[in-house]
Amino acid sequence: MDKSSSVSERIRKVFQDTYNAKPEIIVRAPGRVNLIGEHTDYNDGFVLPMAINRAIYFAARPRADRQVRLHFSDFNTTEIFNPETLEKGPSAPVEYIKGVASQFEFEKIEIPGLDGVFAGDIPISAGLSSSAALELAAARVFCALADIPWEPVRMAKLAQRAENEWVGMNCGIMDQLISAIGEKDKALLIDCRSLQTTQTTLPGNVTVFVMDTGTRRSGHGLVDSAYSERRAQCEEAARVLKVPALRDCSLDYLEANRDLLDPLVYRRARHVVTENQRTLEAQRVLAAGDPAAMGKLMNESHASLQYDFEVSTPALDTMADLARSFPGCYGARMTGGGFGGCAVAIVQSEDAAEFQQQVALEYENQLQIKPQLYACRASEGVSLIPS
Ligand code: GLA
Repeated sequence: MDKSSSVSERIRKVFQDTYNAKPEIIVRAPGRVNLIGEHTDYNDGFVLPMAINRAIYFAARPRADRQVRLHFSDFNTTEIFNPETLEKGPSAPVEYIKGVASQFEFEKIEIPGLDGVFAGDIPISAGLSSSAALELAAARVFCALADIPWEPVRMAKLAQRAENEWVGMNCGIMDQLISAIGEKDKALLIDCRSLQTTQTTLPGNVTVFVMDTGTRRSGHGLVDSAYSERRAQCEEAARVLKVPALRDCSLDYLEANRDLLDPLVYRRARHVVTENQRTLEAQRVLAAGDPAAMGKLMNESHASLQYDFEVSTPALDTMADLARSFPGCYGARMTGGGFGGCAVAIVQSEDAAEFQQQVALEYENQLQIKPQLYACRASEGVSLIPS
């Protein structure tokens, strides 16, 4: 269901109720689903995400002073800060915005004070990059109010630094970049070293389903220790193998040097090396209009994430299995960082309604957790919408 128009209506109303005025600017920054290429971005590798028709909206008007006053309507909280005197705090959504503000300060771009409202329809902590969307929405509004030109790639990198340095989450570039440069009706193959992209059209008779398991990574703050551990293992593999990054390692080279690596580190590296191959292949088969081949690659990706990289969970495995057991489904896999959140499937469009119903029912029967299945469309990256 596409609720985006209702979010933009809601945000106007909340803005009016909160500030007794109309916003001067509203931006929309999408979440994303990664079709394939998981845990490859921070290895200088390849990813194939699409921005989705679920987004964070940020409505704002400038103030005469430098106070940034933000109302988060989905959390019913209000936060105030001054970009010149930033301090870290515990509250999740505003820390992403402060992180972006700190990077603007660092780059000597003066953000004027503002009154703002955030609202959105991206499920939180579900692996759909609501945090990158928050960051890109903030960057877009800050650029507009500071009256500087919008440079999406520069701002994606700035947002990634905000997340690395302010929030302390050592993520790669994928989420921020796709929220910045996503394209309507296209998935993008991204080379995370050169940041070159190749647009890929999904076959017309295929529907992409995001399948929220209703489970979340447990006991986490903003910082993800399992993620950092995986990243460190990949870096160790690259160091031992004497390559700049795992992107530079072929499967033959890895196998020839297997004995040099700790067995666990070897499996982590094997995931990344094979996932890069699958991602490049995925772009080729999609361009050739072959969803069955794409589905097979997605299934293989899931197995590699489950057994070699060990970031899947029983709920994600169950969801992917149930999806695949449906005849019109070409393939399914977990998506995003892992440890809960969402899986993604590609399904023959004429079977979409039945797929949605059947998989949700079966999943709930098996796990006693109510899932959410969304048919997603590829949407454009962050943009201004009429205020
Ligand atoms: C998270 C990170 C991304 C990427 C994925 C795994 O979403 O933010 O940079 O590493 O995990 O592919």
